[in-house]
Amino acid sequence: MEKIIDESIQGQSLNLDQKKENQRKLFIESYGCQMNFSDSEIVASILAKEGFNTTQNLEDADLVLVNTCSIRDKAEQTVRKRLQKYNAVKKINPGMKVGVLGCMAERLKSKFLEEEKIVDLVVGPDAYKDLPNLIEEVDAGRNAVNVILSKEETYGDISPVRLQSNGVSAFVSITRGCDNMCTFCVVPFTRGRERSRDPQSILQEIEELVNQNFKEITLLGQNVDSYLWYGGGLKKDFVKASDFQKATAVNFAKLLDMVAEKFPKIRLRFTTSNPQDMTLDVINIMAKHKNICKYIHLPIQSGSDRILKEMNRLHTRQEYFELINNIKKIIPECAISQDIITGFPTETEEDHQDTLSLMEYVKYEYGFMFAYSERPGTLAERKLEDDVPYDTKKRRLAEIIALQRSHSTYRHEGYVGKTIEILIEKESKKSDMHWSGRNTQNIVAVFPKGDYKVGDFVMVRIDECTSATLLGEAVEYSDNN
Ligand code: 5AD
Ligand code: SF4
Repeated sequence: MEKIIDESIQGQSLNLDQKKENQRKLFIESYGCQMNFSDSEIVASILAKEGFNTTQNLEDADLVLVNTCSIRDKAEQTVRKRLQKYNAVKKINPGMKVGVLGCMAERLKSKFLEEEKIVDLVVGPDAYKDLPNLIEEVDAGRNAVNVILSKEETYGDISPVRLQSNGVSAFVSITRGCDNMCTFCVVPFTRGRERSRDPQSILQEIEELVNQNFKEITLLGQNVDSYLWYGGGLKKDFVKASDFQKATAVNFAKLLDMVAEKFPKIRLRFTTSNPQDMTLDVINIMAKHKNICKYIHLPIQSGSDRILKEMNRLHTRQEYFELINNIKKIIPECAISQDIITGFPTETEEDHQDTLSLMEYVKYEYGFMFAYSERPGTLAERKLEDDVPYDTKKRRLAEIIALQRSHSTYRHEGYVGKTIEILIEKESKKSDMHWSGRNTQNIVAVFPKGDYKVGDFVMVRIDECTSATLLGEAVEYSDNN
């Protein structure tokens, strides 16, 4: 905005239309996984070059974009409710245009335009660079759709605009898409085949974040352990790569090593890992570098071998235990969290008990638990009947959540009396006198502010805990500042 005023004062040749263009306001919001939030930052960057400034105010927007999630039916319903809200706003702001991005856009394609009259624009996760053209179409009064999935697109050349950032932690995407084909999951259909981003562009993006004083970076992908850079192209085409490409390829362990080595003061995290792709090399690199957080999000989905097979999870319960044992042997203090689905088709009480007993064995620090939601087009939807009654799914889910809560408390109690390093991220939601931050294990700690500030690494003595939070007092700066 300021730049435009300057230019007009200096009498430079901006005509009225250009000025109008430069003053357009974009309201963008995201639902679903971190990948979507990260993609919205890429979209904001693409549109900033087209003269769009972001606004927090829906009523002011010339263009509203909603980045959508399809993972469960509830996620889609949430977006549809938001569209109703936009509809109401459009009555007072009739010029407002509405676009849907992300997984629902990819899943529903042009059907979206028929189902939701408010929508002018539908853009899938690999087509964001086409947004300037698509918006031109919309400006000319036509609806616009681009849902073409790509073999190469990683947006590696785009420097994201950090939206609603705390200035401390940021996400950097390293892979897109997923080749795993879990039978319950819509992601391979909405985000396409797996491809990895050039390591140089990853290092460059992190360098920019370090220069802006960010302190914690999370490397992001649907399946980070499967990262493989051999000069571009799909993961599945690596078999066709040249000998040179194979010899110089960078896998996830190597990438982690490079990033950790180059930015020793930066806390590094990564998500999500899939058990069958996580190698001992990755665990050893985690152990080697102090700045790689000792935390792994390692979804299991079910503790039953039969259900794992039905889910096409490509590993057994025993193989998962072996991985957990290796992690704990190499990094005893490592925290582990899970994703679990209850009520997958054909799941019996015995299968459910297997999940509970697996949880008893691992005693996860944290978990993300869901009732199975059948997704159109997935292998499970085509081959299996959604036969576990809703109440049974919900009851099993409640049991799993209760067990997880007791395990979280058990894990958190292990920190009481200890003094641990916390990176301060923000004010506590419950009190403006307290800071909130996380330790290396990704556990939240809350403590009185003292003279410390957001972005400081501090040593906090833990005095109490709940199933969600550690409570204590900051005693001094950590030597990581
Ligand atoms: N129903 C319920 N949960 C699902 N997830 C993925 N697909 C489904 C589905 N159809 C969960 C898995 C995954 C997480 C991101 O969402 O646990 O790991
Ligand atoms: Fe939702 Fe999966 Fe798409 Fe992320 S990738 S937005 S979790 S469906």
